Amino acid sequence: MTDSRVATVLAYHARSKHALDRYAAGPGTLDWEAQPKAFRDWEGAKQKALPRDVVVSEIAWSALYATRPSLPLNTANLGSLLRLCAGLTAWKEYRGSRWSLRAHPSSGNLHPTETWLIAANVAGLEDGLYHYQNLHHALERRAWGSAPSATGAWVGFSSIHWREAWKYGERAFRYCQLDMGHVLAAVSYAAVLHGWKPHLVKLDSDGIARCLGLDRAADFAGVEGEEAEVIVSLEAGDQALPSNWQHWAGKPSLLDARPLYQWPVIAEVAAATRGVIPCAETALPAPVLPQIENDIRASQVILQRRSAQAFDGESVMPHALFRQLLGSLLPGGSPVWELWPYAARVHPVLLVHRVDGVAPGLYVMPRSAAAKSSLQAAFRESFAWQAADAELPLFQLIAARAGKTARTLSCHQDIAEQCAVTFMLVAEFAAPVAADPAAYRHLHWEAGMLGHVLTLEAEAAGWRGTGIGCFFDNAGHEVLGLQDNAFQVIYHYAIGMALHDARISTLPAYT
Ligand SMILES: Cc1cc2nc3c(=O)[nH]c(=O)nc-3n(C[C@H](O)[C@H](O)[C@H](O)COP(=O)(O)O)c2cc1C
Repeated sequence: MTDSRVATVLAYHARSKHALDRYAAGPGTLDWEAQPKAFRDWEGAKQKALPRDVVVSEIAWSALYATRPSLPLNTANLGSLLRLCAGLTAWKEYRGSRWSLRAHPSSGNLHPTETWLIAANVAGLEDGLYHYQNLHHALERRAWGSAPSATGAWVGFSSIHWREAWKYGERAFRYCQLDMGHVLAAVSYAAVLHGWKPHLVKLDSDGIARCLGLDRAADFAGVEGEEAEVIVSLEAGDQALPSNWQHWAGKPSLLDARPLYQWPVIAEVAAATRGVIPCAETALPAPVLPQIENDIRASQVILQRRSAQAFDGESVMPHALFRQLLGSLLPGGSPVWELWPYAARVHPVLLVHRVDGVAPGLYVMPRSAAAKSSLQAAFRESFAWQAADAELPLFQLIAARAGKTARTLSCHQDIAEQCAVTFMLVAEFAAPVAADPAAYRHLHWEAGMLGHVLTLEAEAAGWRGTGIGCFFDNAGHEVLGLQDNAFQVIYHYAIGMALHDARISTLPAYT
């Protein structure tokens, strides 16, 4: 049974690769008028507007690490958390087109992730399961009735694959999973700011689907289904999640009345990767580097975060910021990792273009001691593995100007050359997937979390990041000398000085 699931995952991964001479299967043409709706609502479910204030707006970015008392679970504080992890952050307008942005990035701005809240004994909120309607920053009551024995609040997440598959075809499942990783990091930052201790609930996908009501097939008849991903407990530890609600209400809206294509491999890989998050938790080490003082408020960083659409191609990144970015990627190096206390299995390779005091070239920073030797065995033999930092496990592989290579490997996108550093996130792959095919999702979540940490750390320092989901998989493997799938590159990321597009106007998220 596991063998056939592993085979499904490996086959999906192989066929969803982009190559220099062939992109993964996707729609030949796109009708932008027919884009699936970015917001789902639950008709017939009672709506409750959430308070919009961010209640933790005074905390400085560099104070994120400080321990603080946990705020009470009430609607004001939960409204504040949801704004900072899944809410809208702005509307953008250009020549009559209007689109919204959220607290986390999303491939193609298509936002496949839906957010749920389970509340038990939360002040101001009836016990129940709620859909978070980010368009209005409101809750839609999906289920209620019965007295939960637990007290707590949980945020749950599901993916609507079609939102991504509509544009990206077969590769879309990967993007949904990378997005999920960004969302997890966003939740982790937001929870830490409220003094809560976020924790992934150890339930398998079926259990999560049951808790979020996603298994109620009759409710989803005739509309796009939602794939259960994960539930984060905010304060409740491992207490049993309330799920036996007596009453259910609401019918999910249809997002696309006339889907033009079908990509059955996405349903197959989704089924093959259902499972439970990694269970073996490790103690997080203390940060390797001290946090640089930065008075910018953390909530401001979160709400102003944008992906750069272009970089200036000339700004040189200060060495201290470069080190801060890398330090925050190490386990324990950012408060985000409180939510991911598992063995690090995704490791950054860097194409350094413009960093003060760091020679341009190819570098690697294994995030675990064990990974260093296995990466060394798998990478090109001629790589130098020259220690490049006194404290960080950073190694120079080759000195070279790699801007053109970064651009080519990233589907010829200029951002990969014009940024200061391009990251290639390399996952331990064949062994984790063979041991548990659900790892396919978890590796992408870890990569998305790494991207999110890079993005917010850069934003806090006046720099910007952009995720790059479009890259030529095996061309990158060739550069690194990878001969098999023991390791695979699963995400690229660019960090640089963004160019501002003055033609696009910005409007408030909520009025
Ligand atoms: C998984 C993922 C892959 C992405 N891939 C690309 C890419 O290949 N090229 C690009 O220019 N932007 C890419 N982006 C950035 C998105 O286009 C951007 O997040 C989206 O337009 C929303 O804008 P915002 O991040 O400013 O909110 C990616 C983002 C994510 C999360």
